[in-house]
Amino acid sequence: MSKTRKVGFTETVLRDANQSLIATRLPYSKFEPILETMDKAGYYSAEVWGGATFDVCLRYLQEDPWDRLRKIRAKMPNTKLQMLLRGQNILGYKHYPDDVVRKFVEYSIKNGIDIIRIFDALNDARNLEVAIDETVKRGGHASGTICFTTSPVHTLEKNVQMVKDLKSMGVKSICIKDMAGIMGPKESYDLVSAIKDAVPELPLVIHTHCTTGLAFMTCLKGVEAGADVIDTAISPMSGGTAQPATETLAYALRSLGYEVDLNDKVLIKMADFFKGVRADFIKDGTLDPISMATDTQCLNYQIPGGMLSNLISQLKMMNAIDKLDEALAETPKVRADMGYPPLVTPTSQMVGSQAVQNVLAGERYKVVGKEIKAYCRGEYGRTPAPIDSDIQKKILGNTPVVEGRFADSLAPEFEKTKAELGATARSDEDVLSYIAFPQVAMAFFKDREAGFPKKGTPKKEAAAPAAKKESDLPPMPAWQGHVYYANVPASVSNGVNTRPIQPFAASYQPPHLVLAPKDTCPGTYTITIDGKAYAVSVAAADSPAPAATAPAAPVAAAPAAAAPAAVPAPAPVPAPAPAAAPVAAPAAGETAVKSPMPGNIFKVECKPGQAVKAGDVLIVLEAMKMEIEVSAPVDGTVKAVAASVGTAVNTDDLLVTLG
Ligand code: CO
Repeated sequence: MSKTRKVGFTETVLRDANQSLIATRLPYSKFEPILETMDKAGYYSAEVWGGATFDVCLRYLQEDPWDRLRKIRAKMPNTKLQMLLRGQNILGYKHYPDDVVRKFVEYSIKNGIDIIRIFDALNDARNLEVAIDETVKRGGHASGTICFTTSPVHTLEKNVQMVKDLKSMGVKSICIKDMAGIMGPKESYDLVSAIKDAVPELPLVIHTHCTTGLAFMTCLKGVEAGADVIDTAISPMSGGTAQPATETLAYALRSLGYEVDLNDKVLIKMADFFKGVRADFIKDGTLDPISMATDTQCLNYQIPGGMLSNLISQLKMMNAIDKLDEALAETPKVRADMGYPPLVTPTSQMVGSQAVQNVLAGERYKVVGKEIKAYCRGEYGRTPAPIDSDIQKKILGNTPVVEGRFADSLAPEFEKTKAELGATARSDEDVLSYIAFPQVAMAFFKDREAGFPKKGTPKKEAAAPAAKKESDLPPMPAWQGHVYYANVPASVSNGVNTRPIQPFAASYQPPHLVLAPKDTCPGTYTITIDGKAYAVSVAAADSPAPAATAPAAPVAAAPAAAAPAAVPAPAPVPAPAPAAAPVAAPAAGETAVKSPMPGNIFKVECKPGQAVKAGDVLIVLEAMKMEIEVSAPVDGTVKAVAASVGTAVNTDDLLVTLG
């Protein structure tokens, strides 16, 4: 093996490390001072855009993502700027028509992107084709990506075939994307060797995450096998759920005789700078120490870490954590039934949620999410292996399967949307922002029009209540009470990492709840997590400690052991008793349509008096991040609707009465 080979570095601090560790909350103003320095580091490329940066800019940071890109471009003229693009899904999870994909690529390059890393969650090359084609046409560098996964059908031959397909589409490099950090050094060595044998002329990039602690070894063995570029993050923003440290790998590779073109002095300046950034985000609770830790659990279960914590939190939320072993055993079975999709968002959530539903319902595929239905229809693309045909039939009934590429069935959208938006969109870039994230972009346009009233202080989203030491918490007010949480999710996710929300114990003040004096505090509050509002009921304790013994006792002074009843179990309490509304129980001859699982009412698709047929969707629930359709079991007329949008329901709560 030649040891004089050069190894390139892609710096991820502004995109993936930012996204993995601090939920992409780094505003432009905060990293602007380091850009000119970064430009001198000698990176192969800097990943600065795409992924979640776009959505978060619009949603939380009052930043136009396109403007951010132009500013970075101006400050970093010498470095190749890179973005992550989800093929036909652009930056989201639904398929967009080809004209939108093409426009998005066109404007990404026009605004300063050099390299577009293009992937598809199912590794269906047909979903990459249009984005690659447009990138090539616009003079950009298309990096064709394989999502790494293991399964009986994901053989080296299959991966090599995909690489050959990508090459014929015109990609200038190949990336192995190990989004969950489950690729070990052996898999890396074998896969890189096989790909390098097949297409030695294409530069090969390794992208992985430190989650399981394998990443440094995975990168090293990949380089030994011939990988040309590795993704790393400057040390203060490395490790944990992010990439391995730039400086560490540069040192190790140089000492092994590889050529590394990085300027160490520049890296030191960058590290100093990002130490400050990290400190700020630790201080405000955005950077959860858990994200920085090594978590090997998913190596035992062979499922990505984020997915595992999701499973656990879903089961906890449903008071069914005792079913964890069953759900873990069911997960690989569902994945096999579904044709072994790589476990990456959104397929990881879909497979995990379906496993939970199969276990809780006591019958496999009795309750099926809307997304799984769409998946079985072929709307996400071609599955790596065929879906089990009996299960597909059970899920779809008579619904036809999509033949060919799903995007072929979509009508062009760009010009139509542009006309609809009129003056609201100031540019074609605005139109694309709107198509990608309609509600979020519209809210952004309105704020922008109003001059960003809160400008200067980026909206602080209620951070996930991070695990805080009690000593860090502000002093408790002098009242006793407890917080029931209703439909607060058991976890929040930044797309890569899912954090459980700690049950609110009496001794713990959630950092985003400001407790008022006793008289004013009880009531219903709205807590916003990741842009979504949740109703929370706060009640004073029924029998406060006698004033004489503890007149100003802080909540923390009420030990849980002494009054365990004051701390409700984390069971979801259906807050404002939604379904118990004034709807009479169904009479004889009437059919009660009940909730199949705990969740929130997302849509009500029927109204009293309406005639419905068996199979018609009546209610759409949102549970476990999935939409679950509740259909009419029989033909009939809607007598009463007990469900209203936004309320929480439990299993068997009455939703609709049919007569
Ligand atoms: Co990643």
